[in-house]
Amino acid sequence: MSRLYRLSLALLTCLALTGISHAAEEEHLRIKIDGPLPPARAEAIYNKIKRGMADGYAPARDPIVKAYPRWHRHNKAPYLSDTHGNRYANNFANAMATNAGYGRLKPSQRMPAGAVVVKDTFTVTPEGEVFPAAVFYMEKLAPGRSPATGDWRFVQLLPDGSYIGDTIGDSPEDVAFCFTCHKAMAEVDFLFFLPEAYRK
Ligand code: HEC
Repeated sequence: MSRLYRLSLALLTCLALTGISHAAEEEHLRIKIDGPLPPARAEAIYNKIKRGMADGYAPARDPIVKAYPRWHRHNKAPYLSDTHGNRYANNFANAMATNAGYGRLKPSQRMPAGAVVVKDTFTVTPEGEVFPAAVFYMEKLAPGRSPATGDWRFVQLLPDGSYIGDTIGDSPEDVAFCFTCHKAMAEVDFLFFLPEAYRK
């Protein structure tokens, strides 16, 4: 049987795509690809790199980013998210969000303060190089704390743990585009959930 999706485990030393002041060196996977990854393959790759992804995010010392790998994952396998840079994404929600019906909200239902949803991501280049990518999260704040963003806090971090921006912290202008898109989902508390085929 031809192993179309055989992993070539050559570990290469390359520059991390951090896009900031220092170019960190990092080992990464190189794989054979032929179009978008089938779910089982995307899952196998994620399982190989997720520890390294967490290590990369760790310098942020962000309690949400530290905690999310232990939360409920709502997707069966990483899915391509073209709205988040055409990366493979996962979707994790904390107990408060999951118990409050994340993914099953009825019109005009709202998440409680303290609900958090996180997406971690990785990139696969057309040449088959696999890189950890940004982590995104939304944290529901106390009512009235951020009316301009539906009382959600939007945050994006780079794979090395540096912050792109935080709507209630540094560089809010760099993450203002998040709500510009998420506001389309106002009816269900600005949440999109995830593609149907990938829901558990
Ligand atoms: C162009 C539209 C668009 C933009 C811009 C966007 N998102 Fe999203 N977001 C989506 C869609 C669609 C989904 C569901 C599918 C997916 O995960 O890709 C989603 C899902 C999410 C989720 C999972 C929670 C949920 O159910 O909605 C989080 C967390 C998230 N986005 C954070 C962010 C952050 C942080 C930013 C800005 C840095 C951002 N998004 C920018 C469209 C967008």
